[in-house]
Amino acid sequence: MYACICKNVTERQVREAVVQHGVCSLRGLRKHMDACSQCGKCAADVHAVIRDTLAEQAAFAQQPAAA
Ligand code: FES
Repeated sequence: MYACICKNVTERQVREAVVQHGVCSLRGLRKHMDACSQCGKCAADVHAVIRDTLAEQAAFAQQPAAA
């Protein structure tokens, strides 16, 4: 599903930017892949994807290691 239609950026690409490239903000995402840099209507939804992905990473990091 597209997160930013103007720049053809999908939610998956946003998640990959967070996980693989350490993007943690809208500003960082704009710098990394130019998303949310045209009309700006996607900003709230893209920000939610970034926030949710960061929360998932934090929850995963807090899980105890398997023995
Ligand atoms: S939909 Fe993302 S900048 Fe327009």
